[in-house]
Amino acid sequence: MQKYGHELRLEGDINISPYREKWILDNIDEETKKWLKKDAEFFLHQSLSTPCLDVLNSCKGIYLEDLQGRKIMDFHGNNVHQVGFANPYVIDAVKKQLDILPFSTRRYTNIKIIELAEKLAQIAPGTLNKVLFAPGATSAVGIALKLARIATGRFKVVSMWDSFHGASLDAISVGGESAFSKGMGPLLPGVEHVLPVNNYRCIMGECDICDLKCVEYLGNVLEKAGDVGAVILETVRNTDVQLPPSGYFNEIRKLCDRHGVLLILDETAISLGRTGRMFAFEHYGIVPDMVVIGKGLGGGIFPMAALIAKEELDVAQHFSIGHYTHEKSPVGAAAALATIEFIQKENLLVHCEKMGSYMYQRLKKLREKYSLIGDVRGIGLLFAVELVKNRKTKEPAVDETEKIMYSCLEKGLSFKISHGNIITLSPPLVIRQEEIDLAIEILDKAIAEVNE
Ligand SMILES: Cc1ncc(COP(=O)(O)O)c(C=O)c1O
Repeated sequence: MQKYGHELRLEGDINISPYREKWILDNIDEETKKWLKKDAEFFLHQSLSTPCLDVLNSCKGIYLEDLQGRKIMDFHGNNVHQVGFANPYVIDAVKKQLDILPFSTRRYTNIKIIELAEKLAQIAPGTLNKVLFAPGATSAVGIALKLARIATGRFKVVSMWDSFHGASLDAISVGGESAFSKGMGPLLPGVEHVLPVNNYRCIMGECDICDLKCVEYLGNVLEKAGDVGAVILETVRNTDVQLPPSGYFNEIRKLCDRHGVLLILDETAISLGRTGRMFAFEHYGIVPDMVVIGKGLGGGIFPMAALIAKEELDVAQHFSIGHYTHEKSPVGAAAALATIEFIQKENLLVHCEKMGSYMYQRLKKLREKYSLIGDVRGIGLLFAVELVKNRKTKEPAVDETEKIMYSCLEKGLSFKISHGNIITLSPPLVIRQEEIDLAIEILDKAIAEVNE
């Protein structure tokens, strides 16, 4: 990665670049500039955020609208927008709840949060029947790590290079992106990183013919490191969308069982429908010991995340493992329940698979047309379009990717860039076929501008 000098672009597009400056110059009016300046004045500056690109005024369905009235299809949405922005069914549920019980003080519970816990236990397979809620998935990951220590009496964790589990110190310790941990000093002790799945550039060789060497290596680490309490990984990464090869999760499940290690899957960005199933692990025929969900759980309205654990892991009565102020938020619960109900009543899982396979075919056609596209990977309505200067050397086409992103923004399509050269596309699951066509048309035009 460093070879190509884009190490700062690991998680997303960077917010200080000549392309960004030019885009603002060409597209932003004086009124918006005034607000951007104020944002930069009062917010701590940080990568991937302030200084910001533009100022939003509203959002609805698959669209954002900025202060200048520009409408943008949002294929990014931080993955909170499965049911579309400002979904009326969810908003209605939140409004009703606000009038009855907006907050639940500690020592008390409330009916909405109990109903949500029951609903999650219902939709999660096996004995994944116990939950704790938190305002963000970073905190839910922290709860999972603590529970694993208590349940196993072991403190070590094995996680994946390149992974992301949140931005707190414990989460960046198990995360595998240097952009978050570099310069931060000592992290959590006892974390071992191993190789993640990489369908396109794995140093072990091609995914489907290497005989799961990365899992063999994980087994080696579990054996040699000893004292490992948990393995944590994202079922499918929301950034570069690497798809587990056949047998991958079965073997990991077996390894964990053999070594008495708990398997924690982080599905913050991909659960509740994104992959065409409520939980992505359902594609792979295994059940983890714990799963972390978040983002879209709050319907794109309320910050909500959850740890769902097997009931056998209800062993921490004497510890405060998830002591969060909004732990039993009735408003968050109303948003989450309405979100899940909407996904079910609108058959969004089936719709996602249908739209997903249509979009995949359209993206594959783009790959046939442009040599700049090295690879297209996807599951449900989550895609990675990996851009390379040369299909043989696979040199990442970083500048080209950034140019394409700004061109698409100008034409009305927003998405995330991962690793500097990957276009990550995750549209709302309510998207219609003609909207996918429009987005592909925009992408097609923008790629044509830079493909030589
Ligand atoms: C896989 C994964 N885990 C954890 C997090 C952290 O979530 P939050 O920002 O809600 O704390 C994210 C956020 O992007 C994520 O994608």
